[in-house]
Amino acid sequence: MTQEWWKNAVIYQIYPKSFLDTNGDGVGDLNGIDRKLDYLKKLGIDALWISPVYLSPQIDNGYDIADYRKIDPMFGSNTDMKKLISDAHNHGIKVIMDLVANHTSDQSLWFKESQKSRDNYFSDFYIWKDPQKDGSEPNNWGSNFGGSAWTYCEERQQYYLHYYGKQQPDLNWENPKVRQAIYDVMRYWKAHGVDGWRMDVITSISKNQDFPNNDNPHGLKYVVGNQNNGPRMHEFIHEMNQEVLEPFHMMSVGEAPDSKSKDTRSLVDPTRKELNMVFTFEHMHVDRKPGSVNGRWAIQPANIVELKRILFDWQKNLEGHGWNALYFENHDRARTPSRWGNDKEYRYESATAFATVLHGLKGTPFVYQGEEIGMTNPEFNLDDYEDIELTTNYKKLVENEKTISSKDFLKAARKISRDNARTPMQWNDKLNAGFTSGKPWFKLNPNYPSVNVDKDLSSSKSVFKYYQKLIRLRHTNDILEFGDAKLLMPDDKDIFAYTRQYKNQK
Ligand code: NOJ
Repeated sequence: MTQEWWKNAVIYQIYPKSFLDTNGDGVGDLNGIDRKLDYLKKLGIDALWISPVYLSPQIDNGYDIADYRKIDPMFGSNTDMKKLISDAHNHGIKVIMDLVANHTSDQSLWFKESQKSRDNYFSDFYIWKDPQKDGSEPNNWGSNFGGSAWTYCEERQQYYLHYYGKQQPDLNWENPKVRQAIYDVMRYWKAHGVDGWRMDVITSISKNQDFPNNDNPHGLKYVVGNQNNGPRMHEFIHEMNQEVLEPFHMMSVGEAPDSKSKDTRSLVDPTRKELNMVFTFEHMHVDRKPGSVNGRWAIQPANIVELKRILFDWQKNLEGHGWNALYFENHDRARTPSRWGNDKEYRYESATAFATVLHGLKGTPFVYQGEEIGMTNPEFNLDDYEDIELTTNYKKLVENEKTISSKDFLKAARKISRDNARTPMQWNDKLNAGFTSGKPWFKLNPNYPSVNVDKDLSSSKSVFKYYQKLIRLRHTNDILEFGDAKLLMPDDKDIFAYTRQYKNQK
């Protein structure tokens, strides 16, 4: 197998909390993943990306890491992880872990020490700033989870920066010790056998050291924006590549929130030795009203012409310059049949149509758990949601700023909130969909008696079997790996058509 194994691979993302619980505590675990390796092999995927399983207070479901070297007991042990990787390898499946290196949890030893004083080993591991003369935050930067991106710490009499929750302080990548500490973590897991990394908001690691205010067109107190692709981003990522990715042959896919296709060339151009691929967010915004103060909660019907334009803009602009990561669903995105299709009368048709569009493109397709059986959004009420992004933004937009009504917020949540994809995996129509024998950590989608793996596999309209075929094609058909992609009928609202051509095959 070449070192570019990911070029004709399909990668399956697991959100461990919601995949399969084997010890009855209501939370999915590593043994649960291990137990389903035969299922995953049957689907045909080549690699797993496992969302964070490290020690964490779970403020943001593991994207707040307290100890990078320790598996959270809720998921199992380091030994279980080693076993899982080795069992996966025995199945011919590679394992990619999640590297959350923009921030840690405030419960990490690094942060606890950093908080204590301005002159210890960890003092400069995070981004600390003095208050302005009137005591206010250093600038107007807003957290993605609502409110200011700065929180005051009495002990140091300074503010620390956090692009996400206040329990998720941002690391100071300007400090070489921080960078080396992260590279060490990557080597540590390499020693456990890991094959690559999905890198959480990796384009946010470099901060503009002038810390300028963000543009503020709506006159808000705190503004989210202009916080990605900082001045030293390429330098840091290249360094990481040279320190760990290249020497240990590890694959990389970076999450790149504000990425545009042309600029991304410089991140994924193989000769620059940075990343193998990135996840853009651009195509995920086709159902968002542009420029609204309510951000992603300002929804509109999906603009399919725009979706086609964006996907093909990436196909065209990365051709000969880099490789695409292809996805519609993940743990931050809603279920496609509910979001852009019709999850009632045409659930199978919606699931398979979007799958065809995605898996026919050039790049590496990612499948998110449950996508392969056409799982849908649950129609939850406000009290059912638990995601920190949703609860904090509800507080900000509905209760404090009153820019959106509770009714409209709920409508948007049912379409696009992250929790839509985080309900437990639906294995069968038995107790808790076969996910747990205990009390599930999160509410199940009530449709599990009719939408589940067992049922799908025995159905004449099986989404799983359709995925199996798409994945097989990816492995056997050169056109899919190498061929050029050309969009047909770009302005047609109803038809998504394109060709792939390689040598004399089309
Ligand atoms: C992106 C992750 O995918 C998301 O789940 C998380 O909340 C943020 N980064 C912060 O880590």
